[in-house]
Amino acid sequence: MRTYIVGNWKMNFTVGESSIYLHKLLKRIKPARGLQIAIAPSFIALQPLSLQIDRKKLRLVAQNCNAKDFGAYTGETAISQLRGLVDYAIIGHSERRYVFGETDNMIKEKVAACIRNNIAPILCIGETENERTFGETADVLKDQLTSGLADVSREDLEKCIIAYEPVWAISSVKGARPAAPDDIAMSINIIRDHLRSTYGEKIAENIPVLFGGSVNPSNAGAYLTIPGVNGLLIGGASLIADQFNDIIEIAKRVTK
Ligand code: PGA
Repeated sequence: MRTYIVGNWKMNFTVGESSIYLHKLLKRIKPARGLQIAIAPSFIALQPLSLQIDRKKLRLVAQNCNAKDFGAYTGETAISQLRGLVDYAIIGHSERRYVFGETDNMIKEKVAACIRNNIAPILCIGETENERTFGETADVLKDQLTSGLADVSREDLEKCIIAYEPVWAISSVKGARPAAPDDIAMSINIIRDHLRSTYGEKIAENIPVLFGGSVNPSNAGAYLTIPGVNGLLIGGASLIADQFNDIIEIAKRVTK
C-alpha cells in the first residue's frame, strides 16, 4: 500500500503565498515510488495551484465540500466544482465537526458526494479529550466510521482513506499534546478490527489509515512505523516548507 503525506494548510496563506510555497516544494521533492504527497490549500488557491502543480510529484486536496452537486447554497463549494482540480477531499475534520457543528449525517453525505464525483474522501475520525477520559474512544471511532461510510458501496470502499486524528493531539487545540505511539497503535487496531469485521479482511486491508495530530519531523518516523499506519495528515508543520519536506524525506526512508 502507498504511504500518504498530506499537508492541511487550513485557513492560511494568500494565493500568492500558496504559489510561492508550492514553487519551493516542487523544486525540492522528487517523485518517489509508493509515496503520495498531497497538499490541502484554501479553496481560493486550488484553481491557480492546479495549473502550477506537477501531478507526478504531488496532488491537491480540498479541505471540505458541500454534499450537494449544485444549487442555491450561498457561500458553499460543491465537490463537483472541484473535479479536475483535486484528487482528495478532507471530510469530517474535527474543526468542521466541533467548530462548525457538522453532524455525522452531513459527513456521511459529503463522503458519498466525493465518491459520486470520483474524488477520494479522507474521512477524519477521532475522540475528544473528554471521550478519551471516559473510556469512550473505541465507541466513538466505530460510530464515526460506521456513519461516515454508511452510504459507500462495497466496491467504492477501497477509494476511501481514513485519518485517525485524536482531537486532544491537534496542535491548535488548547492543552494539546502529541499522542504516544502506543496510544495511536491501540486506536489503529480498533479501526482496523472494525473495518475487518464490518467489510471483511480483503477490503479492510486495502483502506489506507493515516494518523494526524501534532506531527513534526521529530515524531514522524515513529508514527509512520506504527503497524497499520499508512501515512500522515499534517497541519501546523505543513505550513513550514522545510518541515514538510523533512517529513517527506523521513517517509521515504522509513517506508522503503
Ligand atoms: P496539527 O493538525 O498537525 O497542527 O496538529 C493536524 C490536523 O488538524 O489535521
